[in-house]
Amino acid sequence: MKKLLLTTISVLAGIAVSFNVLAAVSGVHLDSANTDIRDQKSLQNGAKLFMEYCLGCHSISFMRYNRIGEDLNMSDADVKENLMFNAEKAGAPIVSSMSKGGAIKWFGAAPSDLSLVARSRGTDWIYTYLRSFHADDARPFGVNNKVLINASMPDVLWELKKTKSAGEFDNDVRDITNFLDYVSEPAKLVRVDLGYKVLGFLLILLILSYLMKNEYWKDVKYGKWRAKD
Ligand code: HEC
Repeated sequence: MKKLLLTTISVLAGIAVSFNVLAAVSGVHLDSANTDIRDQKSLQNGAKLFMEYCLGCHSISFMRYNRIGEDLNMSDADVKENLMFNAEKAGAPIVSSMSKGGAIKWFGAAPSDLSLVARSRGTDWIYTYLRSFHADDARPFGVNNKVLINASMPDVLWELKKTKSAGEFDNDVRDITNFLDYVSEPAKLVRVDLGYKVLGFLLILLILSYLMKNEYWKDVKYGKWRAKD
């Protein structure tokens, strides 16, 4: 028993330490992304913005165009018109046309495949990263980033930022982040929805069970075994 207790305490302490280390590594304060995977409009806008501003360099090769169409309730025409700049076939994986060799030559680092980035970095990280570019003449593109210091990615959203108000820009970045969260786990759409339904079912079951318990205990309290008070 004592041994079990000691093991539990050391495992918990280990987890606490590793969380601290993780927090220390990231260092900078991350803004809360507040994304909502159930918001289809946000996901649709995020998908369009991703194709327009990110696919030039980054692939999301685990995802296909027609899957997005089905999951986000977009018509085939909408998918073709707004998402498929890079591909002929709706069933094709979403890959950037930039070559890896060229990218390393131009940027010094290959833009990674973003299929799972929301799982590895987290949504708060992506949301803050995309909004943290600032001027820095020492860097090749004249910008640096507070979250990923000396990032070789240019500030690709600068034009969008110029044409929108601060609130609108944040919303667009939130939509891109939301979209990347969906891409990293498409089943989350079903999982979260199912979660609400299961909780609703359990709530109804709780009420019915409570009523049934009252019904049974009526007999125990005042039934054959005991006269009414
Ligand atoms: C002009 C090319 C280019 C475009 C367009 C671009 N990126 Fe990048 N991105 C890069 C490069 C290069 C890196 C690698 C940065 C580094 O490691 O220094 C990167 C890194 C990233 C990372 C960090 C990945 C990781 O694994 O740490 C994220 C997230 C990201 N980009 C998101 C985006 C999003 C979202 C868009 C669209 C709004 C976008 N990028 C558009 C070139 C680009």
